[in-house]
Amino acid sequence: MSPRTAQIRLVSSHREVYEPCDDSFALVDALLADQANLLRHQPKLCLELGCGSGYVITSLALILGKEGHYIATDINPHAVRVTQETLEAHGVHAELINTNIASGLETRLAGLVDVIVVNPPYVPTPEDEVGREGIASAWAGGENGRAVIDKILPVADNLLSEKGWLYMVTLSENNPSEICLQMREKGYASRILVQRLTDEESLQIIKFWRDFDSQLEEKEMAENKTVPSRVMESLLSQFPRMPFLRGNNSNSS
Ligand SMILES: C[S@@+](CC[C@H](N)C(=O)[O-])C[C@H]1O[C@@H](n2cnc3c(N)ncnc32)[C@H](O)[C@@H]1O
Repeated sequence: MSPRTAQIRLVSSHREVYEPCDDSFALVDALLADQANLLRHQPKLCLELGCGSGYVITSLALILGKEGHYIATDINPHAVRVTQETLEAHGVHAELINTNIASGLETRLAGLVDVIVVNPPYVPTPEDEVGREGIASAWAGGENGRAVIDKILPVADNLLSEKGWLYMVTLSENNPSEICLQMREKGYASRILVQRLTDEESLQIIKFWRDFDSQLEEKEMAENKTVPSRVMESLLSQFPRMPFLRGNNSNSS
């Protein structure tokens, strides 16, 4: 039986390329947890933004079988080469493109991608660290770690098909409830598939999908210029124990 995720010993590496870490493992765990849905979904086109070592796109291809077409991008040219080696070591194929997010692919892929996976650079850093060459681009996320995430969201909205799903890694400092609300305004429902507390980070893997109810809510929000309380309640109920929801008073519990 073929392995369901990329084997770490076969994942290629380079000193300037992000090695699979807790965030990469959490993303693949979320894909595995959603495997039955993914198989039923029968995605024709899957895309990873920021593929690094290739661990995630290779795992996705192994989880889904060899059906469908896979594309992966990275701004770091070394990452594209390393991903090619990782894919080959596992006998799967993806089209690899060295580009900024999905620049140059907007027209070709608009409305066609059934699954997007992304583990973005999410670490809060000074803004001038964002977009630096090499390994620094793997984590530098600017203020609140949102510089690249906020560019990815509209791109994903443009590329996803009607039935498209987005799986994205966030850190609590990225204010994930606000990200879910922003996506709600674009007509997406969301759910946290995996939450992981490591020594240094509180991570979430969030799945987004287009949702008829939230498209109605989007209209309601636009007309009334407020977020309906039921929307806010359902979003907040997903983030019950996260420090960023406790407000500014550090004594509140
Ligand atoms: C946290 S690493 C994740 C790597 C891999 N997906 C994983 O989960 O192990 C983020 C990746 O995004 C890439 N990246 C950063 N900014 C990017 C951008 N604007 N466009 C494309 N890729 C980007 C980095 O080079 C890095 O490989």
